[in-house]
Amino acid sequence: MKILVTGANGFLAQHLCKFFVNKGFEVHGTYRNKSVLQVNTPIHYHLLELTDVSLVETLLYAVKPEIIIHAAAMSKPDECNNDQDACIKNNVEVTKYLVDASKLLNAHFIYLSTDFIFGENGPHSENDFPDPLNFYGTSKLLAEKLIKSSSTQYAIVRPVFIYGPTWNGMRSSFVQWVAEKLKTGTKIKIVNDQFRTPTYVEDICKGIEQIIVCQKTGAYHLAGSEIYTPYQMAIKVAKLLGLDESLIEAVNSASFPEPVIRAKKSGLKIDKAIKELNYKPLSFEEGIRKSFNIC
Ligand SMILES: NC(=O)c1ccc[n+]([C@@H]2O[C@H](COP(=O)([O-])OP(=O)(O)OC[C@H]3O[C@@H](n4cnc5c(N)ncnc54)[C@H](OP(=O)(O)O)[C@@H]3O)[C@@H](O)[C@H]2O)c1
Repeated sequence: MKILVTGANGFLAQHLCKFFVNKGFEVHGTYRNKSVLQVNTPIHYHLLELTDVSLVETLLYAVKPEIIIHAAAMSKPDECNNDQDACIKNNVEVTKYLVDASKLLNAHFIYLSTDFIFGENGPHSENDFPDPLNFYGTSKLLAEKLIKSSSTQYAIVRPVFIYGPTWNGMRSSFVQWVAEKLKTGTKIKIVNDQFRTPTYVEDICKGIEQIIVCQKTGAYHLAGSEIYTPYQMAIKVAKLLGLDESLIEAVNSASFPEPVIRAKKSGLKIDKAIKELNYKPLSFEEGIRKSFNIC
């Protein structure tokens, strides 16, 4: 089967491209900056600025993918808040271009959304009432709404706090950032009053594979099963890597004045994915071990 993955430079999309090519799919990845693309692989890379609808249409009608996984996004909440017009363009309008092309191609459209479409009182189920607390979450919810109102075959996947292995100068996830700081003896302050269900990246790939193979539609939460604060996650990383956990200071979010609001109690419930996709996420400890290749 032919898959097109957007944002192939991004953390998740890099993993998706590698995962599906190893599964024997024909994989096409679109990128904007080619700095960290995987060389010497059978992945077909295409330079594509997604905000240009004519470029999007030209590429999609040439490639004719059967599956489109839309992972590209303006994904930093602070940037979305600071430039809301760009955020709407990148996160909502781009999604519309891809949904429209998907419909014409009769492709299965799989959209990467986020727990940020919800507010407090997590962990949330798929049908909980959305209540984004910041503009990033609002833009992702607007994109979800336009997908749901289209007649294209779609699935919406919502992960939380993605982490996992990195290679070839890829951007770090939180666990690598913590490890690097501790290895250089740098003190770090990490929030201990925000709760998440951190998601091992390959679990998302496996969940999406099931969505494709079983031709599932609708929303699915693909997250970890355990709830941690970022401080608790950092302590776990330190312990498993034998690093100095006394360098990590627990702080409250109030001591980190941020331009955007983030939920204290977020996280996602994964019962639907377990039941319908045979989803079996790794424990956080297993995920850290695999991220750093430790036994
Ligand atoms: N990371 C998380 O913890 C997390 C949690 C929940 C949901 N998500 C969602 O999961 C998806 C993947 O997240 P991620 O963390 O892997 O993202 P990421 O590392 O920030 O990568 C996003 C990619 O999108 C590309 N992109 C953005 N706008 C573009 C445009 N106009 N044209 C072409 N490419 C464009 C960027 O390209 P450049 O590299 O060229 O800038 C970047 O490589 C996103 O949709 C995000 O909202 C992420």
